[in-house]
Amino acid sequence: MPAEIDPETPLLIERRPDRVIATLHRPHKRNAIDQATIDALHLLCAELEETPRTLILTGADGVFAAGADIAQLRERRAADALRGINANAFVRIAELPMPVIAAIDGYALGGGAELAYAADIRIATPALAIGNPETGLGIIAAAGASWRLKEIVGEARAVELLLTGRTVTAEEALRIGLVSAIHESADLLTAAEAIADRIGRNDPAATIATKRVFRAPRDRHPAVDLEAQAELFESPEKFRRMTDFLERRDR
Ligand code: COA
Repeated sequence: MPAEIDPETPLLIERRPDRVIATLHRPHKRNAIDQATIDALHLLCAELEETPRTLILTGADGVFAAGADIAQLRERRAADALRGINANAFVRIAELPMPVIAAIDGYALGGGAELAYAADIRIATPALAIGNPETGLGIIAAAGASWRLKEIVGEARAVELLLTGRTVTAEEALRIGLVSAIHESADLLTAAEAIADRIGRNDPAATIATKRVFRAPRDRHPAVDLEAQAELFESPEKFRRMTDFLERRDR
């Protein structure tokens, strides 16, 4: 744990030049996402909006997050629902300029699953148990599952998962594309870091443009692609990288 980190924080943050590793850290509550966690996620987003870096999101003690904090949820009323406490934080995470990688061990339930859906890339362990049991608690999954899950796994699978509230195993999650790889728990962070390393070798401006264009609404294409490409076609880094390639070949 980095020296500057308060062990009581709900979010442990390790900063590196090209990436940040944020660990949900309320192990006694299975990393349930409470208001303090959301506040910490907003602070982290502000930092990554200012200084874009890849974000690896993970959870402490073999759990990603067992949901929004049900003790706080029970006390929330209509006005709280309309504030979109978790939904807005997860939108902000999804919209971070650089990629977000969720490295998921064990439970990712309810709001924990929705936080994972907000990531660009999800990898997990054989212990993965991911799903949205919200209807069993008398609420809906309102922090992104109702629209993001179908974008990830398709409408038929998403509606079945949301209406049953059942939990998906690692094997099924891999099969339906909800996660892109499974690694043993001991190797999970190394695997996430390898993805961050791969991203780190590419041009950050091109990575940021790819993410922004990828997430643009259908009716913005192809204009949004062409505008981004026009900007990159003028960038010194593009000339440098392409010249490097061509000169290497000429040798
Ligand atoms: N909100 C608040 N507290 C939670 C929580 C949540 N989402 N998930 C777990 N906790 C707390 C438990 O209340 C318990 O607290 P306590 O020790 O003060 O009693 C502690 O975390 C450990 O949980 P426990 O249920 O004993 O752990 P487990 O390993 O037996 O089971 C789960 C793990 C994830 C299966 C179980 O905790 C669970 O079902 N959690 C709720 C899942 C859920 O419905 N999430 C959707 C919320 S929208």
